[in-house]
Amino acid sequence: MPTNFDEVVNRYNTYSLKWHSSQTMSDQLAGHPVEDLDYHNPDVVLPFMVADMDLACCEPIVRAMHKVADHRIYGYSGAYVEPKYVNSVIHWYKKRYNFDIDPSWVHYSQGSIAGVNTAIRAFTNIGDGIIICRPVYGHFTGAIESETYRKVVNCQLINQDGYYTMDWDRFEEVCAVPTNRAFILCSPENPVGRVWNVEELQKMLEICRRNHVLVIADEIHSDIVMKGHQHHPILTVTDDYSNIIMISGINKSFNVAGLQCANTIIPDPYLRGVFMKEYEGSGGTPFAIAAQIAAYEEGEEWLEEALEYIEGNMDFVIDFAAKNMPKLKIRKPEGTYILWLDFTQYGISAEEIHDRIYNKAKVLLQDGFVHDPDLGGCFQRMCVPAARCVVEEGMKRICKAFEDLN
Ligand SMILES: Cc1ncc(COP(=O)(O)O)c(C=O)c1O
Repeated sequence: MPTNFDEVVNRYNTYSLKWHSSQTMSDQLAGHPVEDLDYHNPDVVLPFMVADMDLACCEPIVRAMHKVADHRIYGYSGAYVEPKYVNSVIHWYKKRYNFDIDPSWVHYSQGSIAGVNTAIRAFTNIGDGIIICRPVYGHFTGAIESETYRKVVNCQLINQDGYYTMDWDRFEEVCAVPTNRAFILCSPENPVGRVWNVEELQKMLEICRRNHVLVIADEIHSDIVMKGHQHHPILTVTDDYSNIIMISGINKSFNVAGLQCANTIIPDPYLRGVFMKEYEGSGGTPFAIAAQIAAYEEGEEWLEEALEYIEGNMDFVIDFAAKNMPKLKIRKPEGTYILWLDFTQYGISAEEIHDRIYNKAKVLLQDGFVHDPDLGGCFQRMCVPAARCVVEEGMKRICKAFEDLN
């Protein structure tokens, strides 16, 4: 049965990071607890800043969660004790990407960032440079600086009318510095929505390999790709796996980020051994293990429907902006469920953009400088995997907050 993605699922009081922030603000504004998510109520703050979905999970995952919950014992567990866990990854990559994965390559990771941090710690030293290409997922900066005490080396992407490409000269330059030991590739790219093509990926790999730079490929958004585009897992564009750690998982695509379920896929035995020695996360809760098996074995149809709905939301926002806020520039992303809104043409400061959206419209996006401290001031990141009516309400409020400038 097709899923009703138009359903507004109330996430108040469910330990949701996104909705807890919005509920707290709503309570303050109303002066009393706001229990109902009445999204038309102007005191209800609408959040689109966190990269998880407000769309209900697929039935197979919900059933699997019930089965685990109903067992009534939640003792120590590990993905490695259940062959179906690794087999589900193998099955998924064969079906979606026609790529053969050996079972020994796959290891559970307590989220994608846990994998990124482990790789940084395992293969680089304190103070080493880690290359990233901003605008890029802001938490990479935290992972490099405050979580592992390395140094961010930025290779700024080139923005051509909202389409972002690599600055190859700069990439060559930063890779050639011997103390820059790793490159975190975000593929597909959050927040600018690029799905890197084969030529780009091969060129990144070639430059990194020639300069002994490890490639940590964060592909947590890999299954979220718009029509007409194809994600290429980094391992599928080369036969030389000697400098690649690939990370992917169901956290984003199947909306189970709270279960912390990702995988590192490392073909090279040396890299894998060193990585595993450094890994400190859990082996996976029974909920995470069961969710992945259900998602990869039975969730594909739901994913396809969800992607279509999300793409509809993107088209809605882009069309709405074109008609009502022509100065707001939004390039349709190739992948991810994230929009990178460019408010530059309004000619106002980052602070004023923030004030109009967060305080006047009472909509929570994410300030662009989180992902691009140098050039992101006039950008806002908006995650759109929500019921369309809520997205519509959010856009109407933002439009109203800019009406004197539109
Ligand atoms: C590129 C990227 N990597 C990692 C994460 C965090 O993923 P996880 O919760 O699996 O650590 C996010 C979340 O937005 C992301 O966009």
